[in-house]
Amino acid sequence: MFGGSSKEDSSSGLVERPLYRPQEMQQMGPFKVSPMGFGTWSWGNKLLWGYDESMDTELQEVFNVLVASGINLFDTADSYGTGKLNGRSEQLLGRFLKEYPGSPQAAANVRIATKLAAYPWRLAPSQWVGACRASLRRCGVEKLALAQLHWSTAKYAPLQERLMWDGLVAIYEEGLVDAVGLSNYGPKQLARIGAYLDKRGVPLAAVQVQYSLLSRGPEQASVKAACDDLGVALIAYSPLALGMLTGKYSAEDPGSLPGGPRGLVFRQAERGPPVLPGLQPLLEVMGEVAARRRKTLSQVAINWCMCQGTVPIPGAKDLRQATENLGALGWRLSDGEVRALSEAADRVPRVMVQNIFQTK
Ligand SMILES: NC(=O)c1ccc[n+]([C@@H]2O[C@H](COP(=O)([O-])OP(=O)(O)OC[C@H]3O[C@@H](n4cnc5c(N)ncnc54)[C@H](OP(=O)(O)O)[C@@H]3O)[C@@H](O)[C@H]2O)c1
Repeated sequence: MFGGSSKEDSSSGLVERPLYRPQEMQQMGPFKVSPMGFGTWSWGNKLLWGYDESMDTELQEVFNVLVASGINLFDTADSYGTGKLNGRSEQLLGRFLKEYPGSPQAAANVRIATKLAAYPWRLAPSQWVGACRASLRRCGVEKLALAQLHWSTAKYAPLQERLMWDGLVAIYEEGLVDAVGLSNYGPKQLARIGAYLDKRGVPLAAVQVQYSLLSRGPEQASVKAACDDLGVALIAYSPLALGMLTGKYSAEDPGSLPGGPRGLVFRQAERGPPVLPGLQPLLEVMGEVAARRRKTLSQVAINWCMCQGTVPIPGAKDLRQATENLGALGWRLSDGEVRALSEAADRVPRVMVQNIFQTK
């Protein structure tokens, strides 16, 4: 357990104690973030994640425990929340932040990073500014840490892509965000937009891509190298491969698989057979490391992402998952363990499908 200071709020009983050393914080443009953040895609998503409103009380506790443990980066998006619940993830974050029962300093240190969807009608800078203002309202804050382009339109609407860059510039110039970010961008497109934003004096702080032991090919390596060149942070999304790296799903036990579209995702692969059956040898190596370290598979998977110099943002749907995932903090895998895990991951025959909008 790390963190010099530990503070207990007498009314809530919440103990504020960061689970990492201050020097482990990561620079993200103009601000610093905890070595890992948390993602909130499932908060409001019935279709893929089985969310319902009765989960909100526990999700608020999740938020409180995370902030008290020193987590200050929360990833969301204006498209998160299904159907009538569109925008729910931002709304919940805003409500939980406002009602945070701990210290005002901890609340003030929270960085909300939203993603703005590249809807085809979002063209002019004023439309992007309007979208960001709507996110600010839902989150209940005057300024966001990051507005990230959720995906690039370079593959199917290159003209819109260029307009979106100006949208980011306008959002920053309006003073709505501390910095801007990108999502699902590959190294070539990243270098172009990085140069453009630099020319316009807009700080590009982070790029997020799917990154995990099941999403670690040459594409991820080249995005990481491009991020390092530009001096921007790499946020690793889906670090648990949508739950597959927790070890709780088994190809032999179809009953263990989630229903709905996520079950389908687990059965998909770049080509050919599904991911899960070939995963077992990797899970065994993860299990050996976890047993030696007295950690869990999830903690090993998240820690591996941190050891790659990324800022992972695992999702958590309840207190148990959140607490377990927090256990990825405060220790580091050895170089040998990282190598053994990476080599085992190399032998997995099928890996995660990349986002269809991911650019070169
Ligand atoms: N930019 C993008 O295009 C993009 C795309 C995807 C995600 N993201 C961001 O990345 C965040 C994280 O990615 P993700 O949510 O896709 O997947 P993930 O972090 O790989 O997996 C999260 C899911 O795994 C299960 N889980 C988490 N911790 C667990 C534990 N300790 N034990 C057992 N099960 C556990 C939970 O679902 P169950 O309980 O239902 O299994 C949870 O919702 C998202 O919330 C979002 O903010 C961004």
